[in-house]
Amino acid sequence: MDKIVIEGGVPLRGSVDVSGAKNAALPVLAAALLAEGEHEVRNVPDLADVRTLGKLLGHMGAEVARAEADRRTVRLRVPAAVTPEAPYELVKTMRASVLVLGPLLARWGKARVSLPGGCAIGARPIDQHLKALTALGAEIRLEHGYVNATVPRGRLRGTVFTFDAQTVTGTENVMMAAALAEGETVLRNCAREPEVKDLGDALVAMGALVEGAGTDEIWIEGVPSLRPLSHAVIPDRIEAGTFLVAGALPGNDVTVRGCVAAHQEALVEKLRAVGAEVTKVEGGLRVVGDGRPRPVDVRTAPHPGFPTDMQAQLMVLLCLADGTSRITETVFENRFMHVQELIRLGAHVEVDGRVAMVKGVPELSGAPVMASDLRASAALVLAGLAASGTTEVLRVYHLDRGYERIEEKLAPLGARIRRVRG
Ligand code: EPU
Repeated sequence: MDKIVIEGGVPLRGSVDVSGAKNAALPVLAAALLAEGEHEVRNVPDLADVRTLGKLLGHMGAEVARAEADRRTVRLRVPAAVTPEAPYELVKTMRASVLVLGPLLARWGKARVSLPGGCAIGARPIDQHLKALTALGAEIRLEHGYVNATVPRGRLRGTVFTFDAQTVTGTENVMMAAALAEGETVLRNCAREPEVKDLGDALVAMGALVEGAGTDEIWIEGVPSLRPLSHAVIPDRIEAGTFLVAGALPGNDVTVRGCVAAHQEALVEKLRAVGAEVTKVEGGLRVVGDGRPRPVDVRTAPHPGFPTDMQAQLMVLLCLADGTSRITETVFENRFMHVQELIRLGAHVEVDGRVAMVKGVPELSGAPVMASDLRASAALVLAGLAASGTTEVLRVYHLDRGYERIEEKLAPLGARIRRVRG
C-alpha cells in the first residue's frame, strides 16, 4: 500500500491549480444514463471514485473512456438498453454509486441497486432518496441487501415532495429521475450545494426543463427524452479549500488558481477570522498565513454553511492557534476520526459527541499516522506539512479517492512530500 512521506516545517510559496470536482463529476456522469448516444464530460478529475463509477456504467453496458487528446475529458456511449444493476462489489467501495438509481428508474422503469451500508463517517441512510422516488411513482422493496425498484405504470409521474433532511446526492438522484417523468415536479428543502447547481446545468444542456437548482426549491417539467451530454464540471471546491488552508498555515503564501471565490465564502470567512490574509487575484484566491492563527468557533452545516468536508482540514489550522476553538459537526455523527491521529502529532483535542475542543499548541511534531477517510487523510497531509520532522501518512488509498496526485501539486510549492509505493 502506498504511503505519503512529508518532511514538514518548510514554507509553502507559489500557485497550485484546482482539478474538476469529484462530487460534481459523479452525478453528471450518472446523468449520461438518461440519454442514448455519445456523451462528453470535460474537466473530470482522474480519481479512484470516478474510475469506480466508470466501472459501474461499464458493467451496465455503457462504454466509458478518457479522450486521448485530453485526459480530463470522458467520453461515454450509452446504448438503448442497459443492465439496470449496481452490484454490491462496486457500491461498497463508493456510496455515490447510488446516483444511478434515479436515472435507471426514469429511463428503464427498473433498477436493482445494492444498499450502501454504513461508512466510516456515519450511518448515511438513503431513506430520503427512496421516499422521493416512491412519491414519483416507483415501487421499492428492500431485499437481500438490494433496493429493487420498478415503475408499475412504466413512466415516473411528477409530484410535489419536501425532503425531511437536506441531502446532496438525494436531491441529485431525484432531479435526474424527475427530468424524464411525466409532468411537473416541485422539490422542496433541497440541498443547495454548487454540485447540485452544476448537475442542473448539465441536465438543462441535455434538454431538461429544470429551474432553481442550487436553491432550496427546484422545479422540473419532465420531458419524454433527452439528448446526450456535453458539459464541463465545476472546479473542486473542497480540493481548493484544502489548498487554501495550506496557504493559511503560518509562514505560507499560496495562490489557488481556478477556485471559484463564491463557493468558498464560509471557509474564507473563517480563514480571515484566524488572521490569514485572503485576496482575490486573477483566476483564483491568494492566502497568506500571517503568524500564529487566532482561535475561532466553527459549526458545519449544509451549503452555504461551513462544509463538513472541510472540517478536518480547518481543525489542523486550529490545532496551531493561540487559544481554544470549538468545532461542532452537525452533518455526520462520526466525523472526528482524524482527532486521534492529530493527537499523535502533538495536538490537544478533546471530543465530546459532536463537539471537538481544540486547544492550540505552538507546534506539531511529525509521526506515522493512519488515514481513516478521504477528508481526514487530507487533514493529515496538511498537519504533516506544518509539523516539524517526518510524517508518514498511511492508507493513502482514501486520499486518492478525492485528490488528484496531491503530492505532485504540493511539491512545486516547496513542500518536501513524496509518495512511496508499496
Ligand atoms: N441523510 C439522511 N437520509 C438520506 C440522505 C442523507 O438522513 O436519505 C443524512 C445523512 O445521514 C447526513 C446528511 O443527511 O447526516 C447529509 O448527507 P448527504 O446525503 O447530503 O450526503 P451525501 O449526498 O451522501 C455528499 C458528498 C459528501 C459530503 C456530503 C455532505 C457526494 C458524492 N458526496 O454526500 O462528500 O460530505 O454530501 O456535504 O456528493 C467527500 O467528498 O469526502 C464526501 C463525503
